[in-house]
Amino acid sequence: MSAAVELFDLHADGTPPADPLTLAREWLPADDEPDRPQVTLGTLGTDGCPDARTVLLTAFDETGFAFHTSAASRKVAELAALPRASMVVLWPGFTRQLVLRGEVVPDAAESVAAAWAARSDHLRRLAWCNTDELAALNRDERLRRWAAAPVGPLRTQAPSWVGYRLQPVELTFWAGGVDSASRRLQYPRTADGWRWRHLAG
Ligand SMILES: Cc1cc2nc3c(=O)[nH]c(=O)nc-3n(C[C@H](O)[C@H](O)[C@H](O)COP(=O)(O)O)c2cc1C
Repeated sequence: MSAAVELFDLHADGTPPADPLTLAREWLPADDEPDRPQVTLGTLGTDGCPDARTVLLTAFDETGFAFHTSAASRKVAELAALPRASMVVLWPGFTRQLVLRGEVVPDAAESVAAAWAARSDHLRRLAWCNTDELAALNRDERLRRWAAAPVGPLRTQAPSWVGYRLQPVELTFWAGGVDSASRRLQYPRTADGWRWRHLAG
């Protein structure tokens, strides 16, 4: 969190920031903090049944909330069919939740490359090696193939590495409290910009 940002208390009576990104910047770690938020990414399955999985929130700014993945993954096929998604960020200790809903666009090439550079060697090796073919092998063979993949060349960006940005049409900040009811602050995007309203938690 930037020291320049004044914290807004969701339970207080003050006027919320006009721009929800201001509040998101208070709540979420800065993009260069290595411990990335784990978010539940919801998409619509191509069979019409909702789908979800955990991904790391790589970065966020005015252009959207970025995540990175394999081009061969099911989420990518689902986003090709319907480029809309939700994200739920849950804080450890269950005191806060941020829910995003919006449109999804491909991430810029330089941002995809920066996300690759920031990933650990383990995660880069996963991006290169973690295929359905590997997953179908027995344990000994999987361990052998994993150990046989030298880390050095794997630092080159994997061709399957892709990224997306969720551009929210709605952000909902939820705060719990032991001494009062939980409360939400919801920002719908309108033609005139962001509005906000308080909702029961
Ligand atoms: C804590 C955690 C973090 C994860 N982060 C990512 C990620 O950033 N990108 C990714 O593609 N998969 C990530 N995964 C794996 C996904 O949850 C999922 O299994 C994989 O992406 C395939 O999803 P799909 O078949 O729905 O596309 C993560 C899993 C966990 C448990």
